[in-house]
Amino acid sequence: MTDISDTVLSLKNVEKSFVQENISLDVLKGICFELHEQEMIALTGASGTGKSTLLQIMGLLDLPTRGTVTVGHVEFSTTKARYLLHVTQRDRIRRQFLGFVYQYHHLLPELTALENVSLPRIISGTPKDLAEKQAKELLHELGLEERYNHTPAKLSGGEQQRVAIARALVNQPHIILADEPTGNLDDATTEHVFQLLLDLTQRKKIAIVVATHNLDLAKRMSKCFHLHFGKLEEITL
Ligand SMILES: Nc1ncnc2c1ncn2[C@@H]1O[C@H](COP(=O)(O)OP(=O)(O)OP(=O)(O)O)[C@@H](O)[C@H]1O
Ligand SMILES: [Mg+2]
Repeated sequence: MTDISDTVLSLKNVEKSFVQENISLDVLKGICFELHEQEMIALTGASGTGKSTLLQIMGLLDLPTRGTVTVGHVEFSTTKARYLLHVTQRDRIRRQFLGFVYQYHHLLPELTALENVSLPRIISGTPKDLAEKQAKELLHELGLEERYNHTPAKLSGGEQQRVAIARALVNQPHIILADEPTGNLDDATTEHVFQLLLDLTQRKKIAIVVATHNLDLAKRMSKCFHLHFGKLEEITL
């Protein structure tokens, strides 16, 4: 059994509803989940079942309607009012513990690869020279040492995603949350980028949750959870 102290992120009875024109869309209906150190989790489910919503809540980027999110032993409580009180703490915890990778890279178009990767490090208080040195090391690990000065428009889709992975890793997070990180790539590039992501997170002892529609990729993770009608169920692939 896994020691409870290994838990890096947990959700307790998380519910999420979106209200539009007085109609409530209940997307998450009581999710309980624990992510342990170095665990590799796949999150599957049909389109529109709430995978992105769930990742946003895990990443403290969105608020649950009800329930509790705990990241790095800091509990973010149920009600919106109390949650908002924690905004500064939320930002700090997010920077310290979490890195995100999205389907569409979300890199800043006017910045080079090196600037995109070093920026989160500089925002966290690292001097520019050191942040750039660390960003270069990561880009090098991802095979992008000849692309430091390319802006995103001058990179291929696979290269853009590798830069996005470097950016997610630069603050040395404990957890990576990836929302269909290869959903926009062809099969061969998917294989390359996904394997790089897994190799790097394992080597750096980072836990990862990946939302994906690709069951071949999901099979490579240590566990798979399936989202269906607002509930999360562990499945064997
Ligand atoms: N801000 C919002 N306001 C209203 N409804 C929303 C909002 N965000 C998401 N939804 C709804 O919540 C449901 C879940 O959306 P979500 O994007 O989490 O699904 P998903 O599982 O990630 O889908 P996909 O596989 O297509 O990415 C959808 O029906 C969507 O329309
Ligand atoms: Mg989604």
